[in-house]
Amino acid sequence: MKLFDVYPINNIAIEKAMGSYVWDNEGKKYLDMYGGHAVISIGHTHPHYVARLQEQLNKIAFYSNSIEIPIQKELAKKLGKISGKEDYQLFLCNSGAEANENALKLASFYNRRKKIVAFTKAFHGRTSLAVAATDNPNIVAAVNQTDNVTFLPFNDEVTLANHFEHYGNDISSVIIEGIQGVGGIREASKSFLQLIRSLCTKYNAIYIADSVQCGYGRTGQFFSHDYAGVQADIYSMAKGMGNGFPIGGILIAPHIQPKHFMLGTTFGGNHLACAAALAVLEIIEKENLLINAKNIGDYLLNKLKQFSQIKELRGKGLMIGIEMKEEFAHVKKDLLQKHNIFTGEAKPNTIRLLPALNITKIEADLFLESFATTLK
Ligand SMILES: Cc1ncc(COP(=O)(O)O)c(C=O)c1O
Repeated sequence: MKLFDVYPINNIAIEKAMGSYVWDNEGKKYLDMYGGHAVISIGHTHPHYVARLQEQLNKIAFYSNSIEIPIQKELAKKLGKISGKEDYQLFLCNSGAEANENALKLASFYNRRKKIVAFTKAFHGRTSLAVAATDNPNIVAAVNQTDNVTFLPFNDEVTLANHFEHYGNDISSVIIEGIQGVGGIREASKSFLQLIRSLCTKYNAIYIADSVQCGYGRTGQFFSHDYAGVQADIYSMAKGMGNGFPIGGILIAPHIQPKHFMLGTTFGGNHLACAAALAVLEIIEKENLLINAKNIGDYLLNKLKQFSQIKELRGKGLMIGIEMKEEFAHVKKDLLQKHNIFTGEAKPNTIRLLPALNITKIEADLFLESFATTLK
């Protein structure tokens, strides 16, 4: 049987990893400035993470959500404390798309409305509602097309306010990334997020903060949306949550009340996934990784500012977009092929840095030196 060929891939097979480094099957070492697409939050194969998963695996990996799973409560408690959302409720699932799917559905259960506001260049995942709220017609199948989602221009306050004035009583939710990832590392402005909050409050709509990529400490705050100083009704999370173990979830504000069977999942919140997520939070806390993300992020951004070959530099903390001038479109490829450095990209010409939150200054310098060399 062959694989269903949906990914254009690099011809590299990674066999081993540690911290911010990975090794291929020929023993070649690479610096991972991509974090496996923002997933590796605490570094590869962190010893505490490995030990906690092994320990859990030897006890029990899975049992269904029909019984008490105390480790879920332990995770909720720790997540509440570290994110500062102790009064929120946690629903666990397995991926970012699923987290957004549940968030959008829950909003509709809450206010019994159908209309969703999303924004240009948004990416929210590939399940049916999440993909319908994703601004890329190429990945929306006919069966997912719906009139229920309206795309408004990102960061355009006047258009958003007008839209609410006309249709506010039909709007169920507004979904927005704090910093657009696939869209090219574009930050939602503070005043835009504040406006979303106030309009959602006024019209009883639900503000959904898609924190799948920009959340979990990547920008130095647990949720990048919170830089705006207002609270969302639902935060969706995934990527960094399990450091590679599939787990996602939504944090739900206290005014949204659960009813039995309104949401559900077979695998979500299983013992092993919760152990992975707890190990991640324990390391984030013990190693002060939010502070490290902010410090190394600021350091990289300050150094990168000095390169005239960069058309625009965007992002916060360890979520950085380097938009290269056209004549330097080769840099991403050179970083990988000549300097063994993985980075991400956003079309047409943006290099995305999404390294582990415990990346060191030495590793940041290694990247900067190689980056400078590719420009010569
Ligand atoms: C902002 C955002 N939301 C949702 C998703 C979907 O997450 P997943 O691939 O885990 O379903 C992604 C994935 O890249 C994302 O970047």
